[in-house]
Amino acid sequence: MAPHAHQHQNQHQNQHHHASGHEGPHDEPFVAELLDLEAEVLHAHLTEVTGRLADLTADRPVRRILDLGSGTGTGTFALLRRFEDAEAIAVDASPRLLHHLRGRARELGVADRVRTVEADLDAAWPDFGNIDLVWASGALHHMSDPDRTLREAYAALAPGGLLAVIEMAGVPYFLPHDLGVGRPGLEARCRAALSDRHAEAMPHRGADWGPLLSRAGFTVEAEWPYAVELVPPLPEATGRYARAVLSRMRTALDGRADTDDLATLDTLIDSDGPHSVLHRDDLAVRTERTVWAARRAYWSTGSQA
Ligand SMILES: C[S@@+](CC[C@H](N)C(=O)[O-])C[C@H]1O[C@@H](n2cnc3c(N)ncnc32)[C@H](O)[C@@H]1O
Repeated sequence: MAPHAHQHQNQHQNQHHHASGHEGPHDEPFVAELLDLEAEVLHAHLTEVTGRLADLTADRPVRRILDLGSGTGTGTFALLRRFEDAEAIAVDASPRLLHHLRGRARELGVADRVRTVEADLDAAWPDFGNIDLVWASGALHHMSDPDRTLREAYAALAPGGLLAVIEMAGVPYFLPHDLGVGRPGLEARCRAALSDRHAEAMPHRGADWGPLLSRAGFTVEAEWPYAVELVPPLPEATGRYARAVLSRMRTALDGRADTDDLATLDTLIDSDGPHSVLHRDDLAVRTERTVWAARRAYWSTGSQA
C-alpha cells in the first residue's frame, strides 16, 4: 500500500455528518463494543459469506477492497483474512470507530493493509481509485439517499468489480418467550414498541435492495437470505453481546414501554443476579440477513455517478 497507509486521512466532507442510528459521539465507545461482540458471535456466518464472495470473484483478483460504513472493521478484517493479497480502505463517518479499527488492525498484524478514511458517505465521495470489491454491511439503511450511494459505489468499482450488500431484518432475538421473570413475550413487545422509531429514523431499513442496485447500473448476480440460529453451546461472548444489544434497546425504550417491562429489562441487563443474560443458560441468537452480490459490467467504462 502507499506510504501513507497508516495515516488517518481526514476527508470529512462536511461538518454535519449524520451517522444516523447513533445516539451521538458519547455513544460510540458503546457502539464499538457492540460491533466487536457481534463480530465475535457471528464470526462463522461472516466466514461463510466471504467464502461465497471468493467464489464470485474467482475469475478476477481482489486487490483493493472498500468497506462502506466499516464501523470497527468486522467486514474489513474478515475480507483481509479471505483475500490474502488484498488491501482495504475502511470508510466511516465516525472518527472514534475508525480509531478503534486502527487499533484492531495493529493487534491483528494487518495495519499495513488497511487505510481508514473519515467521510460522510451521504456527501460527495473522495476518490478511492479503482476498487475490486465494495462491501456494505449494515450500512446502506443509514444513508439518506441510498440511490446516490449506490451510484457512487458503481463509479468507484473497476469494470467487472463486485459490490456486496448485507442487511439484516433487525437486531437478533436472544430470549425464550417465557423468561421466568416478568411477563412472557418481552422481546417481541420491545421490538414492536421501537419499530415506529426505527421506521422514521431509517426508512430504508428492511428495503429490497435488488431494484435499487439495478437502478444504479449493477447486475445482481446473487441474492441469498440466510437465517442465523445459534443455540447452546454458544460462543463465549454471547451473554455480553445480548447484554449490549438489550442495554441499547433499554435506553431507546425509555418512555415507550410500560414500567414492568422496563424493570424486567433492567433485571436482564444487570450484571449480577440469576436472571442476568450474562448468567442464563437459555439464550439463543436468532436473526435473518440477506446478502446481495452485484456486478459492475465488465465492458462499462463510464461513471454512473
Ligand atoms: C450498523 S453499523 C455497521 C458497521 C459495520 N459495517 C459492521 O458490519 O459491523 C453502521 C455504520 O455506518 C456508519 N455510518 C452511518 N451513516 C454514515 C454515513 N453517512 N457516512 C459514513 N458512515 C456512516 C456508522 O458510523 C456505523 O459505523
